[in-house]
Amino acid sequence: MKDSHSRKGNFQIIDSDLLSELHSDHMEVANLLGDFERQDLRTYANDIFPMLKEEITAHCEAEQLTIYNKLAKEDESLIKAAKSEHHEIKEFLKTLESTSLTDEKAWEETFKDLKSAVQHHVEEEESEMFELISRQMSKKMQDELYDQFMEAKDELKSSGRAA
Ligand SMILES: [Fe+2]
Ligand SMILES: [Fe+2]
Repeated sequence: MKDSHSRKGNFQIIDSDLLSELHSDHMEVANLLGDFERQDLRTYANDIFPMLKEEITAHCEAEQLTIYNKLAKEDESLIKAAKSEHHEIKEFLKTLESTSLTDEKAWEETFKDLKSAVQHHVEEEESEMFELISRQMSKKMQDELYDQFMEAKDELKSSGRAA
């Protein structure tokens, strides 16, 4: 469910296209992760996992190319930690891709690790990073960054580099 009215810290997501877009991507990924409970393993791994991987990859790469780059000057340690979480998430995605579906237990264990890593990362972004963006960036800067983020994400998806 989209929850664009939610108040996280001292700001409103709905006031910013940038924060709304990031939040809506996070919700989409949460939904795709939640589908795991509603599907059998084989269907999930074959039909849903490729979409999940593309969404996560395009979102993370586009964040790094645009938002993280900009914010690194404001809070280097926050961005360093966020990048290493992206790296960890990508490693779980790679492991899942190379894990045979015949080893159901291994697949499920790694999936659980991926899910917790994503949930933790999203929580941090939607509190600390959203707060930083709201505090440090004017509406105009956020709008420019929104355009750059959207362009980067579209480019990553259409070029197949997120697949
Ligand atoms: Fe994010
Ligand atoms: Fe992120």
